[in-house]
Amino acid sequence: QSISPFCSLTPEVKYSPPWQDLSIIGIAGSSGSGKTSVAMEIVKSLNLPWVVILVMDSFYKTLSPDEHRKAHANAYDFDCPDSIDFDLLVETLRDLKKGKKAQIPIYSFAEHQRQPQTTTLYSPRVLILEGILALHDPRIAELLDVKIFVEADMDVCLGRRVLRDVKERGRDIEGIIKQWFAFVKPSYTRFVEPQRGISDIIIPRGIENTTAIDMVVKHIQRKLQEKSEKHTEELHKLGLIAAKV
Ligand code: C5P
Repeated sequence: QSISPFCSLTPEVKYSPPWQDLSIIGIAGSSGSGKTSVAMEIVKSLNLPWVVILVMDSFYKTLSPDEHRKAHANAYDFDCPDSIDFDLLVETLRDLKKGKKAQIPIYSFAEHQRQPQTTTLYSPRVLILEGILALHDPRIAELLDVKIFVEADMDVCLGRRVLRDVKERGRDIEGIIKQWFAFVKPSYTRFVEPQRGISDIIIPRGIENTTAIDMVVKHIQRKLQEKSEKHTEELHKLGLIAAKV
C-alpha cells in the first residue's frame, strides 16, 4: 500500500487519524468482584502496545471538612454516584478520545482525598476504564466500545474487600463491615447491579472464569480489527492510500 502524505483534503472531507481513534472498554461490578484482575488479564492477553487501565477511584470528589470526618468514621457514602466527579471523568475521556493528553488525579484511600500531584496520561490505543460505576453515566456509556460487567458472589466480594482494605487501604475490620452494610451493599443493589442491563458481556465468577475472559479478549480483538478495517477503507475513499492489488 502506498501512502501519499501530501494529499490535501477538501474542507468538507473529514479524516480522523488512528491516534484519534481510542477504543474505551468499561468494566463495572461490585467492589471485590475482581474488576482490576480482569482488566489486568485483558491487558496481558491483548498484548498490544498502548493499552492503559484507568481506575475510576481517581475521580472521587473532594470532601468538605464535615464529610471528611464522616469518611474517617466509615459513615460517608462512597458508593452512590454523587460521590464521583463524573463531569471531570467525562471531560478526561473526551480529551483522550480527541488524542489529547490528560491529567489524572492520584487518590489516597487512607486520607480519603486526591493528592496534590497528578499523572499525565497520553491518549492510548485502548483504555480500560474500571470502577464500580463504570457504565452508570450515559455520557460515559456512549463513549464505550465494549461494556463489561464482572459478577461475583457477594460473600466472596466482602471477603476480598476485608483483606484488601486492611492490607492496602489502612482500614480496620469493624469499620469495613460497618461501611459494607450501610453503603456498599445497598448501593450495589441500587446502582451497580442495574448496569448489567446495558453491558455487552457479563463475566460470572470474575478472574476465575478464564473461558469468559478469553471470549472477552476475542471480542475486543474483533472490535479493534473492525475499526482498523474501517479506517483503511476511509483512507481508500479519500485517496490517501492506493487500492490493494
Ligand atoms: O476498588 P474498588 O472498586 O473496590 O473501589 C471502590 C470502593 O472503594 C467503593 O465500594 C467505596 O466504598 C470504597 N471507597 C472507600 N473509601 C474512599 C473511596 C472509596 O472505602 N475514600
